[in-house]
Amino acid sequence: MKQKVGFGIIGCGVISKFHIHAIEAIEEAELIGVYDPYAPARERAADEYKVQAFASQEELLGCDDIDVVCVLTPSGLHFPIAMAALEAGKHVVVEKPMALTLADADTLIEKAESLNLKVCVISQLRFSPAVQAVRKALEEGLFGRIVSASLSMKYYREEEYYTSSSWRGTWKMDGGGALMNQGIHGVDLLQYLVGPVKQLRGICKTQTRPMETEDSAAAVLEFANGAVGTLEGSTTCYPGYPRRMEICGDKGSVVLEEGHILRWDLPSVIPIAPVSEEGLKKSGASKPDDISYDGHICQLQNMVNAIFGREPLLVDAKEGRKPLEIILAIYESSQENKQVVLSK
Ligand SMILES: NC(=O)c1ccc[n+]([C@@H]2O[C@H](COP(=O)([O-])OP(=O)(O)OC[C@H]3O[C@@H](n4cnc5c(N)ncnc54)[C@H](O)[C@@H]3O)[C@@H](O)[C@H]2O)c1
Repeated sequence: MKQKVGFGIIGCGVISKFHIHAIEAIEEAELIGVYDPYAPARERAADEYKVQAFASQEELLGCDDIDVVCVLTPSGLHFPIAMAALEAGKHVVVEKPMALTLADADTLIEKAESLNLKVCVISQLRFSPAVQAVRKALEEGLFGRIVSASLSMKYYREEEYYTSSSWRGTWKMDGGGALMNQGIHGVDLLQYLVGPVKQLRGICKTQTRPMETEDSAAAVLEFANGAVGTLEGSTTCYPGYPRRMEICGDKGSVVLEEGHILRWDLPSVIPIAPVSEEGLKKSGASKPDDISYDGHICQLQNMVNAIFGREPLLVDAKEGRKPLEIILAIYESSQENKQVVLSK
C-alpha cells in the first residue's frame, strides 16, 4: 500500500486553493498535478505549488501517481468529469453539487459502486465541531421530539459576481442560483440534522440580479419525522447575514449561526467547540471565498482515512444526492406551483 494518496486537481479557480491547502495540510496526501483548460490558471497553480501542469484532462487522468481527482470546475461539468475520472480508475472528490440532475447523481452512485471506487461530495460544514455536537445531542434524544426547524441563508453577492462569470447563475452550468450554489450547504446541514424531507412547497424568484436562476427562494417543509420547517436562501440581501439554523424539540432546542452555537437549551453542558479564531470569523455571507480552510481539511482527511480503510466516508455520493433532491423539489414546486412529495 502507498504511504501517500496522490491527488490531481481539475479546475484551478476560486475553490482550488482550499483543496490544495487541505492536501498540503494532510500528512498522507500529496498534490501531483493540476489541469485547467485556461493555461494561465493551470500554470499559475503549478508554479505556486511546484507541481505538474497537465496539458489535458486525459493526460491528468492517465497519470499513475494520481489516486484521487478533485473536480472543481463549474458545476455543470462535475458529472461528466467525475464519470471520466471513475472510468480512469480514480477515486473522486467532487465539489457541490455533485451533479445537476437526480438521474446523473444516480448514474454516478452506480458507477462508483460498480467500480468499487469512492466518491466524496464536498459538504465541509458537516465537519464543524458545532454541527457534530448538535448531531450527537440529537442522537442522544436530548431534544425530545423535534417539532420545528428553520434555516435562514440571506446572503449577498455583488452584481459583478454574476456578470464577470460565464457560468454562475445559469441553468446549464450552475444548475440553479441562491439555493443550488450557496444554499446547498445549509440545506445539507438541515437534512443531515433533522432528517429527510417528506414534502415541501417552494417559491423561487429572480428579483434583482441579472441571472437566469433564482436570487431568492423560500420553502415550507414537512420532515419525515413529522417536524415542520422553513428555509430561505438569497444572494441579494444586503449586506448579507450569517447562516442561521434553529432546531426545536419539545424538550430542548439549539440555535446555530455559521459554526457558532448561539443557544444551547438542552439538558447537557454546552460543548466547547474548538473552532479556530479564523474559522469563527469566516462565513461567506457576503464574499464567496471568505470561508475557513478547516472544513475542507477535515473532509479531505476523512477521504484519505476512508481510502486507507480507517473510517467510513461521511459524505459519499448517496449523501451528496440528498440536498440535491430537496433543492430540485423546491424548483419543481415553484415552477409548477404545486406541493412536491419527495421519494423515500
Ligand atoms: N464548497 C464550497 O464552499 C465552495 C465554494 C465555492 C465554490 N464551490 C464550487 O466549486 C466549483 C468551482 O467554483 P469556483 O468558484 O472555483 O469557480 P471558478 O469559475 O472560479 O473556477 C472554475 C475553474 O474551472 C475551469 N474550467 C472550466 N471548464 C473546465 C474543464 N472542462 N476542465 C477543467 N477545468 C475547467 C475554469 O477555467 C476555472 O478556472 C463550483 O461547482 C462551486 O459550486 C464550492
